Amino acid sequence: MLFVTPFTMGFLTLFAVACVVRAAPTIQDYQDTGGVIMNGTAYSFGDSCNTYSAYQSGTDIVLSASCHNKSGGFPYSSINLNHCITNNMGQMEARKDGNFGLSCNRMLFHGAQPILYGFCSNGKYPQEAAIDVGDFVDNDDGRLNCFGYYGE
Ligand SMILES: *[C@@H]1O[C@H](CO)[C@@H](O)[C@H](O)[C@H]1NC(C)=O
Ligand SMILES: *[C@@H]1O[C@H](CO)[C@@H](O)[C@H](O)[C@H]1NC(C)=O
Repeated sequence: MLFVTPFTMGFLTLFAVACVVRAAPTIQDYQDTGGVIMNGTAYSFGDSCNTYSAYQSGTDIVLSASCHNKSGGFPYSSINLNHCITNNMGQMEARKDGNFGLSCNRMLFHGAQPILYGFCSNGKYPQEAAIDVGDFVDNDDGRLNCFGYYGE
């Protein structure tokens, strides 16, 4: 049972505002969003990489991250996500050599999981799109890879 008093109304409003603010990705999120290092039973991208970021250079959209390797280090590597993602009518989908950078842009990571957000053309206008890169980008002994393509 929720008693709606002026106090709770104010609280709910504040809460709603906080949620909206939290939901809007900012440059700060982009800078300090890092994969939290989990206890690392699996060498998935999300569990074993940190300080990941995405930047766009022309039609290339590059993912960079420091990923745990077997000797305990965290080497930095970068992979061109054009090898990994396609734009299917405004939605990002995992596909070998999908070249989504031709029609998607404004990429950033947001939140603790490696969810890449951006805008992709649906043929008429750019629409918001998101994809969990952890589903198809892997860490192989400190090197990022997707569909057999290795980053440097
Ligand atoms: C590892 O993480 C998983 C998921 O958070 C958790 O269930 C498990 O207990 C953890 N194991 C250890 C050894 O911390
Ligand atoms: C592991 O990463 C460190 C850097 O953090 C690097 O110096 C070392 O050579 C890497 N080990 C292997 C086997 O690649």
